[in-house]
Amino acid sequence: MEERVTFGSKIGIILATAGSAVGLGNVWRFPYMTGQNGGAAFILAYLGCVLILGLPCIISEFIIGRRGAANTARAYSNMARGRAWKFIGYLGVLTGFLITGYYAVVAGWCLQYMFASVSGALRGDAAFVSRYFTSYTHSTWLPVLTTLLILLCTHGIVLRGVKGGIERASKYMMPLLFLFLIVIVVASCSLSGAWKGVEFLLHPDFSKLTGDVFLGALGQSFYSLSIGMGCICTYASYYSKDTNLLKSAVQVSLVDTLVAVLAGLMIFPAAFSVGVNPDSGPALIFITLPNVFNEAFSAMPGVGPLVAFMFYGLLSMAALTSLISLHEVSTAFVVEELDMSRKKATVGVTLGTWLLGTLCSLSLGGAAGLTLWGKSLFDVFDYVTGQLFLPIGGFLTCLFLGWFVPKTWVYEEFTNRGTVWRSMFPVYLFLLRFVCPVAILTIFLKQQGCF
Ligand code: PHE
Repeated sequence: MEERVTFGSKIGIILATAGSAVGLGNVWRFPYMTGQNGGAAFILAYLGCVLILGLPCIISEFIIGRRGAANTARAYSNMARGRAWKFIGYLGVLTGFLITGYYAVVAGWCLQYMFASVSGALRGDAAFVSRYFTSYTHSTWLPVLTTLLILLCTHGIVLRGVKGGIERASKYMMPLLFLFLIVIVVASCSLSGAWKGVEFLLHPDFSKLTGDVFLGALGQSFYSLSIGMGCICTYASYYSKDTNLLKSAVQVSLVDTLVAVLAGLMIFPAAFSVGVNPDSGPALIFITLPNVFNEAFSAMPGVGPLVAFMFYGLLSMAALTSLISLHEVSTAFVVEELDMSRKKATVGVTLGTWLLGTLCSLSLGGAAGLTLWGKSLFDVFDYVTGQLFLPIGGFLTCLFLGWFVPKTWVYEEFTNRGTVWRSMFPVYLFLLRFVCPVAILTIFLKQQGCF
């Protein structure tokens, strides 16, 4: 059998996989969910969810990817030995492809904001920034072009392959992202009145821990760790036989959680220092924040735009490393299933996702009528992938690996053929068989409004 390409180094594996996990979910979704759900208490619930749900699910995708040794669809079918379960793999590829379209649109907004923060287009009060955001996202051409721009960056990296493209890009971008993050956290925490923001993030009020907060945290941990759409599985197919799966999963989750908490420490202190409430929801990043940066640093000319530029720069990089992993899911699928060269496959996937992104973007206002069931296409893709396909894929994956795949295969992969973590295997198997499916099913039914 032909040897499959692998990542070149352990650090490359961690940075590439963490690059997939660290994305808009950490810097955009996590802070606003924390703001809306009572701060520190939400973070504690989130940590619990990562530990009991996120880790076993990531490890499961690692196992399927490495043992299946192919793109997500074929990896599942290799493990399923030809039976109906392989459709979970196809669902993963489809979910990854659909998400790429709308994720690229939001990533394009980040690029646009990066330029706008230095060109002065964001200078004005909150109402002004809000009008800017609406007119930009509702316009026809500009968001379509920024979507194309970020997809072309993704394309250039994926085209160069696993080692020379994905691994190399992650090795540059992830450290840079951390650097920007730390600089902004320090700037934000040194503002007067910033302490209230730090306290909000780190001082838990347990009376806020309701069932809803827990369910929100469960959903967020899933999304943030890129579980259920083939990314982790595809990357794991490039891991070497000696990669320590449990250790890698812990490292990736730690990096992902650290970035999310640091993102909170970047945003809340600045927001509290100018008296802005952090519970404004999804608009927090694109409407509230530019103005917060303007006001918070108004005493130091030039610093506000610089901080904003770095903030949207790091957001764009975080989105880009996630987009690469999403793109690779479809590219690996096309290369292996349709027997195409990597170059042709990459071009096809880039064009396909751009078309999808264009439709999503236009559906926000540029071309009215692009709706399904009364919702814009953008919202439909968000809903169908995030709230339907993702939990269904995750749920079935747990059942598949926990109950259907021969236990010896799972054991061999988890313990690297009996050499590591043998005593942890029963714990993993218990979580995989019982706790994860029940937890995922609960979030799913809750999201569907069943209780
Ligand atoms: N985990 C990414 C984030 O936090 C989102 C993502 C999901 C990326 C699935 C790739 C695949 O933003």
